[in-house]
Amino acid sequence: MTYYEDFSPGSNRLPPRSWVRSSAPVLSLNGDWKFKLWPYADAPIEDPSDWDILPVPSHWVLHGDGRYGRPIYTNIKYPFPVDPPYVPDENPTGDHFRTFTLPSWDIDRYVLRFDGVESTYKVWLNGSEVGVGKGSRLPTEFDVTDLVVPGENALLVRVHQWSAATYLEDQDQWWLPGIFRDVTLLGRPSKRIDDVWVQAEFSGGSGVIRPEVTGTFPITLSVPDLDVSVTWQSAAEVAPLTVGAVEPWCAESPHLYACTVSSADETVHLRLGFRTVAIEGDQFLVNGRKVMFYGVNRHETHPVLGRVFDADYVRRDLLLMKQHNINAIRTSHYPPDPRVLELCDELGLWVMLECDLETHGFEFDDSIVDNPSEDVRWRDQFLDRMQRTVERDKNHPSIVIWSLGNECATGRNMAAMAQWTHQRDPGRPVHFERDHASAYTDMHSRMYATFAELAVIATTGNASEGNLRPEEAVRQRNRPFVHCEYGHAMGNGPGSLADYQAVYEQYPRLHGGFIWEWRDHGILTKTADGTPFYAYGGDFGEVVHDGNFVMDGMVLPDGTPSPGLAEYAAVIAPIVFGDEPGTLRSRYHYIDTSAVRFTWTRTVDGVEVGTDEIELNPVPPGGSGLFELPPEALDVAVSGETWLTVEAVSGHVVGFRQYKLSAPERVSLAPVGGLGGAVFDPRTGSLLRIGDVEISGPRLELFRAPTDNDIRAGGWLWNERGLDRLEHRIRHVEITDDSVQVSVRVAAATAGRCIEVTYHWFGVADGVALTVDAVPSQGWDCTWPRLGVRFELPTVDQVSWFGTGPLESYSDSSTAARVGRFDSSVDDLNVIYSKPQETGHRPDLRSLDLDGRLRIDTVPDRTGHRPGFSLSRHTPQQIAAAAHPHELSASDRVHLFVDNAQHGLGSAACGPDVLPQYANYPASHTFTLVFKA
Ligand code: GAL
Repeated sequence: MTYYEDFSPGSNRLPPRSWVRSSAPVLSLNGDWKFKLWPYADAPIEDPSDWDILPVPSHWVLHGDGRYGRPIYTNIKYPFPVDPPYVPDENPTGDHFRTFTLPSWDIDRYVLRFDGVESTYKVWLNGSEVGVGKGSRLPTEFDVTDLVVPGENALLVRVHQWSAATYLEDQDQWWLPGIFRDVTLLGRPSKRIDDVWVQAEFSGGSGVIRPEVTGTFPITLSVPDLDVSVTWQSAAEVAPLTVGAVEPWCAESPHLYACTVSSADETVHLRLGFRTVAIEGDQFLVNGRKVMFYGVNRHETHPVLGRVFDADYVRRDLLLMKQHNINAIRTSHYPPDPRVLELCDELGLWVMLECDLETHGFEFDDSIVDNPSEDVRWRDQFLDRMQRTVERDKNHPSIVIWSLGNECATGRNMAAMAQWTHQRDPGRPVHFERDHASAYTDMHSRMYATFAELAVIATTGNASEGNLRPEEAVRQRNRPFVHCEYGHAMGNGPGSLADYQAVYEQYPRLHGGFIWEWRDHGILTKTADGTPFYAYGGDFGEVVHDGNFVMDGMVLPDGTPSPGLAEYAAVIAPIVFGDEPGTLRSRYHYIDTSAVRFTWTRTVDGVEVGTDEIELNPVPPGGSGLFELPPEALDVAVSGETWLTVEAVSGHVVGFRQYKLSAPERVSLAPVGGLGGAVFDPRTGSLLRIGDVEISGPRLELFRAPTDNDIRAGGWLWNERGLDRLEHRIRHVEITDDSVQVSVRVAAATAGRCIEVTYHWFGVADGVALTVDAVPSQGWDCTWPRLGVRFELPTVDQVSWFGTGPLESYSDSSTAARVGRFDSSVDDLNVIYSKPQETGHRPDLRSLDLDGRLRIDTVPDRTGHRPGFSLSRHTPQQIAAAAHPHELSASDRVHLFVDNAQHGLGSAACGPDVLPQYANYPASHTFTLVFKA
């Protein structure tokens, strides 16, 4: 067996230890390396003098304009035959070479560290073999003391894209080979700190420091801010220290204490966060209080760099999370660059740290056997990965849960990882979603559970997966539940986040969860003619791939936050204003509301008529509060539509709510004679113009460009039923001086089912009114994406409206939407999703102004319901046909949609479909619009 096709975890490696900042000397070996790519694994080692140049860290497939191969995207499936531990003969192998001058350090040992190399690599120094590294997102250290020479040293690293280890790294992401994290030469002083772990616990207001140090004694630990300085002469003296009153660490107030651990020749810098994690019964507690996870799954993905760390980019990303009220990250599905965790400690995010392990492709096809989780040949490599995970990251206060990996079968190797972790770190619970029976882990976890399943999980505890025996169900019932993935944020969506949050808050056993996922993984590339675009699966000519399933984040590839993220921020906002104005509750875990500024604002017809601060005594974490609103905040004396908005701001919006104080007066729709300046086609009865504004229509529209969720929810039925190709047969046109009446039968080729539509135009004060009456025939058997009418205009650039905004919203994703006055360019109304799809709907429109030339008012029905609108430069049919945004050619037309109903979004790309209460079922609709030019 070759080293890249064996089961071993590597060779000649040093034992794993903490990744720390140390005073010991280091030499970064990042930079330009010589590079040669081979199409197979066992090429001869050649003279590197005429090789290409490649930066390290990097993924070679993201360099060389295709000369070094291309990225491949698959979700579950392996991109080669499943034949473990063997991999294809066609195994891209990158030889990386550089020289360095040995620094003249006063040290004892030289260590070579690789922080991340995908997937298996062999290292030579000055022609001698150093060792073999595996575990792509885990560090490996080699002692090279006996191989370095004074002066110039030659370092060669041969990296194989495919290896036995690849079978354990089947995460849903791009396959990106290369030395993608730092390479460092470390000088290890003779009187050094070999490893250190300083646990900082919080108990009843006091801190306890539990140190574990190996190295050359005497060793001193100091925490200046706590006046702690203790020197141990030997390992036997190392003992816990009680340090008195401390400020605890929590995601909301991430208080860190600088700490140093020093031997004679080395000082290690740590930052202590005092916190105690515990599971009591079915409650997950930090510092004695239940934690609710408002989390996201975070992959390492950068549109240009792939998984290479970029400090500014990551900091911006994590700050964006904080600005959207997110308090937790699951590091799906591997340990990130270690500096990400330093930022989590500093900015305050609870972290579920996941090991680099996934074997999902073994489930892909029934003909595949040999589940690695159960196969003893893989045991060492499983265990090794977990040990390296825990040892590397054990000092971070932000990490509150260890996760064994993702989507591997359950089995004895997983159990061995859990057992080792429990024994090594009793201070953090162990998570693994596939341990359905809670046989060896501490939390009950599921992904994409339906609402019905969640209710079962929260009550009887015997959820559908697992077919548990009674004793297993009891065990599971006694665990805290975490939804490790939910709310699949692919394209426009996800829907029902508010429904999920309501369920989490209903049942004490539930602890929230982690949205799948934070960011789209689009890779910036170019078409043949040089047009830049963000690529997904298939765009690099892969033989097998999973298309745009890799574009499922709440942040678009260019960094734009999606409306789904705004919705999540509103749903999980820390301040929840009650149904009655003047009431609120806090979702904060630890902090009170003293840093929060509260305001009220009253608007009439969308125009602000009063605003002021709200005085409020600090509300304790998890507590409720009452506040007084002055009479002018609640005044409804003025005619018009009156709203009270209360808002909580702490750097960004941490809660808001709107209360409707009064409804608008009813508009008079009394016909006044004439047609308000509207001109119609005498043959079809279609509108041609209002005044001097060219506008044609209306045309009934049922179709929307399917969202990613629609497609996987059976949206194909919409096409099969012909909603995208409706034909309109005029049955009757009647035009008089005072009214136009057009009856149309709308149906698709081959279908008997239809919709009978009547358009009735008549003059009203200052304009022309249109009543649309749509009645479906019997026989409809699919939901309707929308029920509305479409108009076409030659051009529109700027719009302003009184309605809901500022962003798009849908029936099951409307928590972030507010009623107010907004303006926008037509282009900014719509979101550039990685695959074009429905976007831009804003329900509950009162009034819409197009370029200051045409105004369209809606009329509420008996229940107060009003239609919504969207504007697009393309029809839904054109949008549905485009695979990428750049494929939508420039257009000089604008389509206005006024929809009396739109189907919800759901999460069916992975998870539940639109709930019935948000679905758009075929039904009769009547609605009225008033046009004023
Ligand atoms: C889960 C998996 C994730 C991702 C997601 C769908 O099954 O854990 O890695 O594939 O589904 O996008």
